[in-house]
Amino acid sequence: MQYLAVRGGKPLRGSIPIHGAKNSVLPLLAATLLTPERCVITGCPEISDATAATEILRHLGCTVEWRGASVIVDASQASGNAIPSELMGKMRASVTFLGAMLSRFGWGRLSAPGGCRLGVRPINYHVAALEALGVKWDGESEDWRCRWEARFGGEVTLPFPSVGATENLLLASVSVPGVVTVHNAAREPEITDLCGFLSAMGAEISGAGTADLIIRGGKPLHGAVWHVMPDRMETASYLAMAAACGGDVALTQTDPMLLIPVLDALRSAGCRIETTGKTIRLLRDRPLRAIGTVSTAPYPGFPTDAQAPLMAAMLLAEGETRLIETVFSDRFSHVPELRKFGGAIETDGNCAIVTGVRRLTAASAEATDLRGGMAAVIAALCAEGESRIYGLDLIGRGYAQWIDYLGLLGADVSLQEE
Ligand code: UD1
Repeated sequence: MQYLAVRGGKPLRGSIPIHGAKNSVLPLLAATLLTPERCVITGCPEISDATAATEILRHLGCTVEWRGASVIVDASQASGNAIPSELMGKMRASVTFLGAMLSRFGWGRLSAPGGCRLGVRPINYHVAALEALGVKWDGESEDWRCRWEARFGGEVTLPFPSVGATENLLLASVSVPGVVTVHNAAREPEITDLCGFLSAMGAEISGAGTADLIIRGGKPLHGAVWHVMPDRMETASYLAMAAACGGDVALTQTDPMLLIPVLDALRSAGCRIETTGKTIRLLRDRPLRAIGTVSTAPYPGFPTDAQAPLMAAMLLAEGETRLIETVFSDRFSHVPELRKFGGAIETDGNCAIVTGVRRLTAASAEATDLRGGMAAVIAALCAEGESRIYGLDLIGRGYAQWIDYLGLLGADVSLQEE
């Protein structure tokens, strides 16, 4: 079995460019299905979730070609097929292909999506919202069959600003000959990126980045070229890592404006953070201090995806940090793994209380999910002795070149087989 050997305790130094956002590239790739004309998505991260999305496109009859970091999609021959559970099960974002299939073929057939285990992850908001626009559902979660009974516009209010449901609504609504208004829509920057691409394809969407989206659908969409926005979560993870290990790390090709709550949290922990244009530099040359209470929330709040990396960074911070998870029902599966390094963490419902310790010691830990896996890597990088991290495939789902990046920053890591 493969594992990452990590000899911890070294400060990190260096500069790395941030990749295109995982959570953006997946719906962007789904959107390429909406037109028979060629689309080019540039700045695609080489992660297994992006590969899984291109496999779904191929399965649906598209020609897909990777040229460096660009993906060229020709959906002119897309014929529509049921998406089998092997492909659906690889990631949660596969569910956004439903909105794209409904738009392009008028029907969609797929099974329940996979993705990280973060508690219950139903798609009831997607179902109710699409039904309000005339979509009929049939079948069980192993084999959903959906089709438009009639495509009509209307107003939809989401019970929670779900990222995936907002993306599905956007992808489906651009084909509706009428006006669709979505209230309580997700405001995540990745939604804005998707709206930008759809608009570049000829869609008429207003309100991107706000809680109220208006889609005037029914216009034929054409091919377009789009550059994926920078990955906020990759940026947040390397910032948490640099804070935990100390040193001087610069992240380039990112967007500091999208990370304000993360930068605020790390500043209050005693890190010096300088931002210039697309670069964030983090310096830490004194001990970390605890940061009080941080609650996760939909954008523009503190991102749930940065909760586990921040928790790992707080293991050695003097004092008590309370991390409250409000987005997912069970997002603390990394806690038992972080305790293996000597982390002092108590949980009480959706609150994790981290009391900083003086030292962490090497351990063998498992990536329990994508971000939790990176949290375990961060703990290992601060621990004395040689740690082992298993479950590397989960980390590769969302972090491109991450082992090379650790080396570039001066971490002492190597891939091993046992
Ligand atoms: C997306 C991101 C994920 C991020 C999350 C929240 C992608 C590929 N993934 O996931 O990294 O952590 O947003 O920012 O973009 N819910 C329901 N019913 C639904 C839909 C959602 O109850 O029909 C609940 C979920 O269980 C969860 C909450 O709403 O508790 C938020 O989910 P959602 O915003 O939909 O997250 P995803 O789109 O799955």
